[in-house]
Amino acid sequence: MSAKFAVLGHGVVGSGVVELFYKNKNSIENRAGTEMDIKYILDLRDFPDSPYKDKFTKNFDDILNDDEVTAVAECMGGVEPAFTFIKALLEKGKSVSTSNKELVAEKGDILLKTAKDNNCNFFFEASVGGAIPIIRPLHRCLAANNIYKTAGILNGTTNFILTKMYNDNMPFDEALKLAQELGYAEKDPTADVEGHDACRKICIISSLVFGKHVYPKSVYTKGISEIQLCDVSSADILGYAIKLVAEVKRNNNGKILPVVMPMLVPHENIMSGVSDVFNAVLVYGDGIDQTMFYGRGAGKLPTASAVLGDVIEAVKHNVTVFSQSWDSAEDDSFIDSVENFSARWYFRTSSDHTPSTGISDTYDVHEDGTEYAFVTYEVLTFAQAKNISEKINALAFFPVLD
Ligand code: HSE
Repeated sequence: MSAKFAVLGHGVVGSGVVELFYKNKNSIENRAGTEMDIKYILDLRDFPDSPYKDKFTKNFDDILNDDEVTAVAECMGGVEPAFTFIKALLEKGKSVSTSNKELVAEKGDILLKTAKDNNCNFFFEASVGGAIPIIRPLHRCLAANNIYKTAGILNGTTNFILTKMYNDNMPFDEALKLAQELGYAEKDPTADVEGHDACRKICIISSLVFGKHVYPKSVYTKGISEIQLCDVSSADILGYAIKLVAEVKRNNNGKILPVVMPMLVPHENIMSGVSDVFNAVLVYGDGIDQTMFYGRGAGKLPTASAVLGDVIEAVKHNVTVFSQSWDSAEDDSFIDSVENFSARWYFRTSSDHTPSTGISDTYDVHEDGTEYAFVTYEVLTFAQAKNISEKINALAFFPVLD
């Protein structure tokens, strides 16, 4: 008996799944406890030189209607047609593993229910943190904990860009181009640069940890496009690295607050040293205190590793894994307002606007020519920080990671 699976999409991730599978086929089969093979690769393009050219199809129905195919790896990206395809596959009892964070963040609740109703699985380890095992640890290894917060660097492209800005003084555009050449960036890099990709990932983590679907539109999201080289160097002198952080925590009022923002990470925090395309997620729970997960957050084989791990799980499990699930949310009243987000704050302003807010003697001030950068000692809400930023005409303001 051999388990047959299909791969939807032959782009960076899909071709990585095929490559890694055939590279490690023997050990994969040992771990799966069964022979395995790829029966179809779906892509609208032609690949006449591929060693697997006989497996290519342009017709999704070939896969849907083939009873021999019991598992599918979806690596197409985007909500449609991926959603329609995956729903149809799950309705036929075929388990699906995906790297598609946009889809999981928008439609995860529906697809998880469809999988449950049809006694199969919808897996998405690759959708958050690339190669890093984070989804399965959250609902399995850490299941004994009350997890109250996670904070992570969840976008490889922006971390790569910020690292190049920090280490090499490389301009933003040049670093972005390099990230695209290396296959890290999304088709439209705006999703990376403006934080939408990290937002989708924190939606997935929030939904899984707190049990209700969190939609991207409910999450305050700010990207890195406004960060200047002078912010990177000022933050460094003040003792911080600037990182795009995606965080969710449960506030005292019982609501959860997911956000994506550039944050200043203290040099003594292990996350400040997470560089290049690497991602990291800190998980806080009442049993574990804190645990960090670290690894390559993007790229062909790292992402393929996570997709294939899920395919192997799907082959091994012929029943739904119930712990990897969450409910649909009728509204977002369980999500707190970003105005309540509390932190110490970094401000950059011109010398014409030296701190005059009544708390100036509590600032660390770094003089940078005609501009000043400083970090407040006090913890202020986002609403208060915004107010101060208006008063002092701030050129930039970012929170400090707690
Ligand atoms: N564009 C994404 C990133 C790919 O840079 O992290 C992995 O999700």
